[in-house]
Amino acid sequence: MNDLLEQASQRLLAAKAIAVLTGAGISAESGIPTFRDAMTGLWAKYNPADLATPEAFARDPERVSRWYDERRCRVAQCRPNSGHLALAHLQQVALAQEKAFTLITQNVDRLHQAAGSSDVVELHGSLWVWRCLECGNEVEERGPAFASYPHACACGGLRRPGVVWFGELLPSRAFATAEKAVASCDFFMSVGTSAEVYPAAGLIEQAIQVETDVLEINPEATAFSNRVSWSIRGKGGDVLPQIVGMALLDDASASETRQS
Ligand code: OAD
Repeated sequence: MNDLLEQASQRLLAAKAIAVLTGAGISAESGIPTFRDAMTGLWAKYNPADLATPEAFARDPERVSRWYDERRCRVAQCRPNSGHLALAHLQQVALAQEKAFTLITQNVDRLHQAAGSSDVVELHGSLWVWRCLECGNEVEERGPAFASYPHACACGGLRRPGVVWFGELLPSRAFATAEKAVASCDFFMSVGTSAEVYPAAGLIEQAIQVETDVLEINPEATAFSNRVSWSIRGKGGDVLPQIVGMALLDDASASETRQS
C-alpha cells in the first residue's frame, strides 16, 4: 500500500488539473451512514422506493418529509472528518499554485463545505434545502426539526427535500460542470463511492476513457477497481491525509531545493 500511496502522491503533486468525486463513504467516519454497506447502509434498512422517489413523496409526503428532516437534524450534529479536511487543504494549495481543482460530490450533507471546500459541485442536491412544489421557492433550513410534517410553504404548497430522487434528472448545470472538469483534468480521485449510481458513476468511466490518472479510495472493491490507475483499499479519513500530506511534503522539499 505504501508504494501505491507514494506513486499516487507523486502524480498528484505533478497534476495541473485535479477533479475529485466523493460519495457517502467519505462521511462515514463523521457518523453518517452510507447507503449500500451491507449492515449499516440506509438502503439495507429502508426501501428506496418508499423514501427516495417522487412517487413515494406523492403517496406519503408526511413519512418522506419526516425521514429527510430526521437525517437533516442528525447531520447537523456531525462534523467534517480528516478526509474532508484533507480535500479542503488540497484545494487551497492547488488554487494558490494556479492549478484547477473541482470537488464533485454525490453527498447531500454539505460536510465538504463545513470543512472549508468552496465551489463544491453538488450532483444530488442538499438535505438543507427544501423546495415548494407550488411556487418553486427554495429555503435553506438550519433550525431544529420541523414542528409538523409534511413541511408547508407560506403559499400553502408542500415543500419537498432538495435532494435528487431516483428517476429524477441531475441538476444540469452541476452535471455539466462536473463533466467539463473530468474532461480537462489530469488527475481524478474517486473517494467513498460504490460507483453504482449513474450518471454520477459515469464520471469515473469518463476519466478512465480520457486516460486521466485515476485513484480510487475505498475499503471495498468496486466495479472500477481493476480499471483505475491505483485502487487503495482504505478509509478516506486515513488515506486522504496521507496522500495529500505526502504530495505537499514533496512539494515543500522541492521548493526548498530550488531556493537553496
Ligand atoms: P454507497 O452507500 O452506495 O457507497 C458507499 C461506499 O463508501 C461503499 O463503496 C463503501 O465501501 C465505501 N466506504 C465505507 N466507509 C468508507 C470510508 N470510511 N472511507 C471511504 N469509503 C468508505 O454511497 P454512494 O456511492 O455515495 O443518492 O451512493 C450514491 C448515491 O446512492 C447517493 O448519493 C444516494 C444513494 O441512493 C441520492 O440520495 C440521490
